[in-house]
Amino acid sequence: MLSNKEILANASRQGIVVPSFNVPYLPMVAPVVRAVVDTDSFAFVATARLEWYKYEAKGLRPVFDAFMEWNRPEYVALHLDHVPVIDEDDVRVDYLDVLKEALDMGYGSVMIDGSRLPFDENLVASRHAVELAHGYGIACEAELGAVMGHEAGPMPPYDEIFASGKGFTDVQEARRFAAETGCDWLSVAIGNVHGAVSTATRDQKKVEARLNIEHLRTLRDATGLPLVLHGGSGVQRAYVLEAIENGIAKVNVCTEIRQPYEVALRETNDIAKAQQACYERTRWVIADYFGIAGTRAKVTV
Ligand code: 13P
Repeated sequence: MLSNKEILANASRQGIVVPSFNVPYLPMVAPVVRAVVDTDSFAFVATARLEWYKYEAKGLRPVFDAFMEWNRPEYVALHLDHVPVIDEDDVRVDYLDVLKEALDMGYGSVMIDGSRLPFDENLVASRHAVELAHGYGIACEAELGAVMGHEAGPMPPYDEIFASGKGFTDVQEARRFAAETGCDWLSVAIGNVHGAVSTATRDQKKVEARLNIEHLRTLRDATGLPLVLHGGSGVQRAYVLEAIENGIAKVNVCTEIRQPYEVALRETNDIAKAQQACYERTRWVIADYFGIAGTRAKVTV
């Protein structure tokens, strides 16, 4: 069985994306795994700290246990998404403790998110996280640039963000950050935004984001790392496909499969029906949006 790092290296080399599906509700694990298996693809199942606090993923251990219950190691692997140094509500987090707990438990890869810190502090915090993860032989993702959307306050108008490049990952900083942190994968900001998570806005339809592909290419060339696109839901398909050809090896997807689950649950009060809605949308993401049905053998050999 390959490590998460080897899987992503394979995917990156061949221009195939590894979707990383967040599961803010534990019953989403089963339909996500089923959709990956039925489409003969490979994906990560992921949880982020905010999904234990703001949704019903309950914690590192419950997600780990739910994953192990449905695990099909030839098709899926477990990833710990966003462990922030400063969270979306501006609270400092004991990020090394959280990472250590996940690594002890057996998560296959982890992410440190120091993106709310000034550059130098992000670099130091990320380096510490990378050293910790590498001590376990586990890959560590880090983030540079501002992928907005998780914070509760209003976001600047999307067209303004995209046109100005505000918060985009800086190329010179990315070169230094990759070299000095030793991170395995880098999450970049190139026009992508996260789906909203505050209770007031989480039901809203996401903006149909665009991506600056030219900027992505310069980041790929500067870092030499597999790059990660957060906020995968709702990105215009042509852009996402071009991004995968130009350095993006992993795309995080949550809102796209979370909202159908929530809507179905609200309408029917039946978890099986909500799981079916989640299954169908996950299949759609894999087969119709990314177009990677049948590619499992290519990334797992
Ligand atoms: P979306 O909810 O926009 O798909 O973003 C998910 C994500 O990036 C999790 O890290």
